[in-house]
Amino acid sequence: MDSLISPALQAYMDRWVSPLPALLQELEEVTREQHPEAHMLSGAQQGQFLSMISHMIRPRRVLEIGTFTGYSALCLASGLEAEGLLYTIELREADAEWAQRYFDRSPHGQQIRLLRGNAQEWLPKLTETWDLVFIDADKTSYTDYFNKVLPQVRSNGFILADNIFFHGQVLHQPLSGKNAQAIWAFAEAVRDCAAVEQVPIPLRDGLMLIRKK
Ligand SMILES: C[S@@+](CC[C@H](N)C(=O)[O-])C[C@H]1O[C@@H](n2cnc3c(N)ncnc32)[C@H](O)[C@@H]1O
Repeated sequence: MDSLISPALQAYMDRWVSPLPALLQELEEVTREQHPEAHMLSGAQQGQFLSMISHMIRPRRVLEIGTFTGYSALCLASGLEAEGLLYTIELREADAEWAQRYFDRSPHGQQIRLLRGNAQEWLPKLTETWDLVFIDADKTSYTDYFNKVLPQVRSNGFILADNIFFHGQVLHQPLSGKNAQAIWAFAEAVRDCAAVEQVPIPLRDGLMLIRKK
């Protein structure tokens, strides 16, 4: 994946970040070795960031849209309060299977509910109030996901959205490609939404951290 982070800066950051638990290290390694789309995995820097955010919030309910092989779900689940639950939605059956195998081996696995299928079909069925939502699935649905989940995010709850740089494509006008255009439209929708405050974070492929007022 093209990155806006220079190799030297990446190496510098990699030098200082705390290692994640052995199970997550194994999952990253195995995904990189065996999955043709391994670039989608959050990785250690972002994984540790997600874990930190979760430990700061100590959420009771977390929603993730886009499980992939389960890496970010495990990072986010690590900060759940004792009675907390994380729901994560994955469209592709093979990825869901992969993720579930790792959830089953994790001390947080019992707190993870893997929902197999299309997020568009699952979202109307979920009635929880969210402390934290991580949007990391199809970019063309980001604005729609944001509009759909926001009413169920508690006041002072958070939404994190991944890939807001879309491999740097958002910097080149006119925007080429539907994904870069969708990310731009999402950023505009967030900026124009009076119910939230937001800050872009230049970690990996860019995160948008959004707080509901
Ligand atoms: C970027 S990956 C997620 C990476 C993961 N969050 C991580 O950090 O390790 C995006 C995932 O979203 C899934 N996805 C795409 N469209 C979806 C949809 N409409 N509903 C549910 N999952 C979807 C893809 O199959 C893919 O596994």
